[in-house]
Amino acid sequence: MLDIHPSDRTSYLNMDMDIPRRAAEALLSSDDPAAAAKGLFELVSEQLGLDMFISYVVGDGGRALRLFSAAGISPAQEQSLRTLAFGETACGMVAERRVPLLLNDVPKSSDPAAASLRDLELLAYAGFPMICRGRMLGTLCFGSRRRTCLADHEVKLLATLSSYLSMAMERLELTRMAEQRAAELSKALNDKEKLLQQTNLLLKEVNHRVKNSLQMVVSLLEMQRTRLQDETATRALMEAGARVIALAQVHARLYQGGDVQQVDMDVYLRDLCEELRRSTGDGSRIEARGAPVRVATDLAIPVALIATELVMNSLKHAFLAGDGMIEVSFTTADAEAVLTVADDGCGLPATFDPKRSQGLGMRIVNSLTRQIGGRLSVGHPPRGSSFAVRFPLPVSISR
Ligand SMILES: Nc1ncnc2c1ncn2[C@@H]1O[C@H](COP(=O)(O)OP(=O)(O)O)[C@@H](O)[C@H]1O
Ligand SMILES: [Mg+2]
Repeated sequence: MLDIHPSDRTSYLNMDMDIPRRAAEALLSSDDPAAAAKGLFELVSEQLGLDMFISYVVGDGGRALRLFSAAGISPAQEQSLRTLAFGETACGMVAERRVPLLLNDVPKSSDPAAASLRDLELLAYAGFPMICRGRMLGTLCFGSRRRTCLADHEVKLLATLSSYLSMAMERLELTRMAEQRAAELSKALNDKEKLLQQTNLLLKEVNHRVKNSLQMVVSLLEMQRTRLQDETATRALMEAGARVIALAQVHARLYQGGDVQQVDMDVYLRDLCEELRRSTGDGSRIEARGAPVRVATDLAIPVALIATELVMNSLKHAFLAGDGMIEVSFTTADAEAVLTVADDGCGLPATFDPKRSQGLGMRIVNSLTRQIGGRLSVGHPPRGSSFAVRFPLPVSISR
């Protein structure tokens, strides 16, 4: 049963029961708790005969109270009450005890908290701690200079409003924290993105330099080759240069392409063949046709070295009587890739066995084919020769 005081000016029955709903609505849509607290006071002051409210938030690392919203006190009083220690004045006591403090008939009250309220000429006082999930956020206190006593239902209404305000403050703080966290995360992401860009730039730079250095090795080998008379030595240096070209070209792909983990196989083979033709100065045509497939760099290198050996063999052995045509193709089907090198030259010797060939070139081809888990097969076209290496393609992404 609610205890309604007979002298109570406000009748329980007349009380606007819409107040909690309006208060909740106003608080939920507000992002300014100080203004929201004033709004709450305006909502109830007339009906409950209240003349003053004062609200504090816990500040100074949880050791003091800081006034953040008030009405019905003079600017001088507001100035002197700007900060409170816990336990100081009635509001400080509310914060210290963490329970509501209700004082009726303040002038006659012997409660030690009443002294500070008499300075404000209050007759009745109701102060509430604002606690959310066990954490003390501040206080919300009301006073009347007209009424000596607040009824139970009025106190309950004020308690409800103060718990609404504490929830609104908590919500705003959580929102602020979430926004701050989101801003920190976005900055961290930004920093990470920048770092990644720098790392990529650095990698490109490194690959560019490695390619240039290897290209310089190729040039030095070419210079040395032109000074030699011996055919075998000249050939050996040319083949060595071709192998270095294959490695230089992969680094060219790595700084020209967007990804260092994978290489565009069609572009790689096309540029490689172009470089081999340029470096050997041979009049034969080399045509490279590749599927637009990206292949892991670690796989692309042995594939390109195999292609280099086979192309160099065609240049060296197939066209003894003039120039010809060499076709390099790279195709994929399901999880398998096929590298084919064919020429329209004189064809392989009848005794040729790719597995048993003692030449360095075929030994390199056999060894790299094994390394990539592939199979080498030799075709018998009507003219010339044809080599095919089939191998599993674990990670390939069509562009
Ligand atoms: N495209 C080709 N056309 C004709 N003969 C070839 C071709 N490719 C390879 N051969 C033959 O296979 C042999 C082995 O080649 P390889 O192992 O590269 O050694 P090398 O090129 O040093 O002779 C060559 O000597 C050549 O007789
Ligand atoms: Mg050879």
